[in-house]
Amino acid sequence: MSSDFNAILAQHAKTTQLLGVDFLPVGTPPNELLQSEQAPQIPDHPGVEPQLVTSSTIEAKPSQPDFALKAHAPVASSESIREAYESHSDPQSKLDALREKYITDAPHAQFITSFNNIVFGEGDPQAELMFVGEAPGQQEDETGRPFVGRAGQLLDKMIIAMGLSRESVYIANVLKTRPPNNATPTQDEAAACAPYLYEQIRIVNPKVIVTLGLPATHLLLGTTQPMRSLRGSFHTFPSTNTPIDLPQIDLMPTYHPAYLLRSYTEDNRRKVWSDLTAVMERLGLNKT
Ligand code: URA
Repeated sequence: MSSDFNAILAQHAKTTQLLGVDFLPVGTPPNELLQSEQAPQIPDHPGVEPQLVTSSTIEAKPSQPDFALKAHAPVASSESIREAYESHSDPQSKLDALREKYITDAPHAQFITSFNNIVFGEGDPQAELMFVGEAPGQQEDETGRPFVGRAGQLLDKMIIAMGLSRESVYIANVLKTRPPNNATPTQDEAAACAPYLYEQIRIVNPKVIVTLGLPATHLLLGTTQPMRSLRGSFHTFPSTNTPIDLPQIDLMPTYHPAYLLRSYTEDNRRKVWSDLTAVMERLGLNKT
């Protein structure tokens, strides 16, 4: 194999791993439920034959501490962010004030080159269930709303299957602006925007957080463990590695819907549904 091929394959594997998968399945997955739909916008590499790539083939990350919120100096302290909204009495006004504070501080100015709209988050400001994704894509950037593209349509189906509506949950992302070329957020970028996500969580105060994919999961749990060892059971946010003083909230990591669309296998769907079923039980929702 040429070094180009190896580089492309490693990059593809890394992107897919960051979306929440620990292996690339061989061949084309069954796609009977989404036959008319096209693949989501995830980098693809024509000419690269599908083959098994385990996470062990991806360059190992340095060991402990496995997640460091460092690099960019925070543009504002947690206290000053809180001060910006605390005088408001109702949760939606607090979220609106937090959004204004985010716009003023512009933590994305440290790393984003261009975007059309800030995608801050939306939904019930007192939702019991909060979803956290990674970053807006093209359609989210165009509309200013989270998860409205193809991955969002699948997320909508997941929410409805849980017996909930999109309006009854809160949806946010780690990054509030679209990264160039839909790049996966780096730890530095996530760390720069983290204080605003933490305050969104403080205001909404959900009973359960579902993190979609690895960037959100890694940020909120302060780990770099692979998704295979994180999904399927509840964790606690904030974790001991997460530098924020907040009441403890149950957190369930699961695969990102964009990954699920791309690898729409029965096994992946079963895993995601099992994660969501556990969330439903934790929220006291009836299974349909
Ligand atoms: N993917 C995400 O992680 N967030 C969005 O809002 C859209 C797609």
